[in-house]
Amino acid sequence: MKFPKAFIWGTATSAYQIEGAWNTDGRGPSIWDAFCHEPNNVYNNHTGNIACDHYNKMKQDVALMKTMGLKAYRFSISWSRIFPQGQGEINEKGVQFYSELIDELIQNDIEPWVTLYHWDLPLAIHNELNGWLNKEVTDLFVKYAKLCFERFGNRVKHWITFNEPWVVSILGYGQGVFAPGKISNSEPYLVGHHLLIAHAKTVKLYRNLFQKSQQGKIGITNNCDWREPLTNKKEDKEAAQRALEFFLSWFADPVYFGSYPQSMVDRLGARLPEFTIEERKMLRGSSDFFGLNHYTTMLASEAKDLEQISVYGNGGLSEDQNVNLTLDPSWELTAMKWAVVPWGCRKLLEWISNRYDFPDIIITENGCAYDDVLENGEVHDIKRIAFFKNYLEECAIAINNGVQLKGYFCWSLLDNFEWASGYSKRFGIHYVNFETLERTPKASSKWLKLFLESQP
Ligand code: GAL
Repeated sequence: MKFPKAFIWGTATSAYQIEGAWNTDGRGPSIWDAFCHEPNNVYNNHTGNIACDHYNKMKQDVALMKTMGLKAYRFSISWSRIFPQGQGEINEKGVQFYSELIDELIQNDIEPWVTLYHWDLPLAIHNELNGWLNKEVTDLFVKYAKLCFERFGNRVKHWITFNEPWVVSILGYGQGVFAPGKISNSEPYLVGHHLLIAHAKTVKLYRNLFQKSQQGKIGITNNCDWREPLTNKKEDKEAAQRALEFFLSWFADPVYFGSYPQSMVDRLGARLPEFTIEERKMLRGSSDFFGLNHYTTMLASEAKDLEQISVYGNGGLSEDQNVNLTLDPSWELTAMKWAVVPWGCRKLLEWISNRYDFPDIIITENGCAYDDVLENGEVHDIKRIAFFKNYLEECAIAINNGVQLKGYFCWSLLDNFEWASGYSKRFGIHYVNFETLERTPKASSKWLKLFLESQP
């Protein structure tokens, strides 16, 4: 298994999941602070108040990456650490934290890949302006992004505007299981629309004012599972295709073609907002790379009877798609109950390449949670090693088949706050003892280190 020489190897994290220091040095609250502080939203009422205490252990964490020989690190900036109220006064201490992190990475030959939004909307914007339901928020995001380009763009050469707009829309405003915990069958489509517009405006600004002098790239990261047709029947194949369109093309079609997929237009009617001509133009071609977070696969079949729809898994608003999702009972499951299906990753990469004309793809997240335990100072996470090995093998095959896969970031550097699951799910390649906050490399991190040493 050899990858191209220039291949980017990294790990990923996000601000709320690892930083802690939720009210330190002037940071303002975000919707995730509010969501966690309200009882019964998160497993055992866990919060990100302390998380991995990365805010105070930043240098130690960069040293962990250095030890592993990683070339890149993807992290997110907390908007409310920079603008505690979401707009207005800048919190210089927040700027300083990220500036130091970036310097530390560069000094250690690790390239920073920066996500501007990994779900932690400043609470003031939610309370006062109704969050992403309000189109005005797109301009506030652009202002925040502009400040990041001004302060960090001389050193950051890879920007990701949004992490997983699907999750923000569906889990945050549709199913209500993530912050801000809203339930609706129309608001997700409005939220997604605004996220896309905010993305396009930000990219336009970056390209107009910064790209030439800073020589960086900018894109968006979408998440998608693979959908394999349950049978060879035409209607199941169409169901799988439709499920992928409602999942990934919802956000990727506007970015590559300037419009929503026809299947969504046909099925959603007035619930799917329309772009203006100007917005379409701004969206088309608004990503320098195709950021992809991929974790799992499900079987898709046509749901004839709406009653029959299984709401299990990442189906989104399944009733809008008439798709039934199931699992093959022979598939191994992770602690998240997500099926381990390495070939699904390859099929998805090939599907993206065909639909979007072979863009440069970066897997900005891939990984798995297991109930890791520390025994005599070691975590023998054999299953995680197999997961990485098998998924990477399929990535290598995809590259051989012509997929322009340029990088891979494993989720995650550390065990961390796994959103509504709190600290009960461990995705890290380093074990974190959440009482002492000590980090211990798991067997998988040692395996990855050896694997990277074997690469050209
Ligand atoms: C992604 C998300 C990450 C992480 C991961 C594992 O959807 O971007 O923050 O939580 O899933 O669940």
